[in-house]
Amino acid sequence: MIERQLWHPVADAHALRDAPMAIHLMGEPLVLWRDHASVHAWVDRCPHRGARLSLGRVLTTTHGLRLECPYHGWQFEGGGRCQHVPASPDFHPPSGHAATVVEAIELHGLIWVRLQPWAGLPPGVPLDAPPAFAEADDPAWRRVICGPYSVATSAPRLVENFLDLSHFGFVHEGWLGERGHAQVQTGEVSEGPLGVRVSAARAWQPRAYANADGGAWIDYGYTVPHPYAAVLRKDASEGDPVRNAIALFIRPDGDEACTAWFVMATHNDPASSASVVEFQDTVFAQDRPVVESQQPKVLPIGRMGPVREVHGPADRVSSAYRRYLHRLGITLGTC
Ligand code: FES
Ligand SMILES: [Fe+2]
Repeated sequence: MIERQLWHPVADAHALRDAPMAIHLMGEPLVLWRDHASVHAWVDRCPHRGARLSLGRVLTTTHGLRLECPYHGWQFEGGGRCQHVPASPDFHPPSGHAATVVEAIELHGLIWVRLQPWAGLPPGVPLDAPPAFAEADDPAWRRVICGPYSVATSAPRLVENFLDLSHFGFVHEGWLGERGHAQVQTGEVSEGPLGVRVSAARAWQPRAYANADGGAWIDYGYTVPHPYAAVLRKDASEGDPVRNAIALFIRPDGDEACTAWFVMATHNDPASSASVVEFQDTVFAQDRPVVESQQPKVLPIGRMGPVREVHGPADRVSSAYRRYLHRLGITLGTC
């Protein structure tokens, strides 16, 4: 299953401090914890008698930080190996006395995990890393994380909503669009092994940013570098120094549920971080009832599913996204 080989966002990096954290990724219970060197993700099950490691604690020892199991106090170092069994202090645990480790890294302010190493399928598709988001890692830009939002729909429905300019005048009337200015330009759409790219898309916005005080035509550029992620560049067309890039990163929690983060990177935007979050919370609260109402909750991508959806000329980007998922063989959240 290709989805198990993809990197997925699982938690806010700043929320993981000095206690272990329990999370689920595609039905798999995992424990996250960090030592001085890095962040770790393990299957949340002690190899001794199966207790949840996430109920344990991170222990300071003379050998550095270790995760201590809540049941018999076995101590595990960052690589997963048990180094100490308190009931038998002279026992040297063999290498097989170890937690099951999965890959984890910290990027764009989030913790990313993948359950299986990349097996390179399908050939030539570069998904062997979490999606790039250069603006969020550029110190000249400010990064604000919004979410997590738990949403009762599939991850692909949410990505498609993010790529869709033509709902602005209705769902976000007065905020991101106006009924009287509902026409959009879908721009240039290209599809390739890197995913989907859209440039020079345009929509009218009455209030484009948290601090905007008037309407403007806004240029949009999108990339879809990952089945469950999309990155948007949004620039006012003329004379406005504010630059915005927004990434949507989604953890699929099954076919009909997901958890989403928006990472907002801003340049020259005078709005406070709190008002950026408040703006995004408001906009997402407008999207939520509509996307959660969509039936089916999985995205029809033409895999012989029972449901057919029809398209308009403004849906070229969404069609390209559906073809991308189909080419990759994504089944989680699609039909
Ligand atoms: S179950 Fe973890 S130490 Fe025994
Ligand atoms: Fe929306």
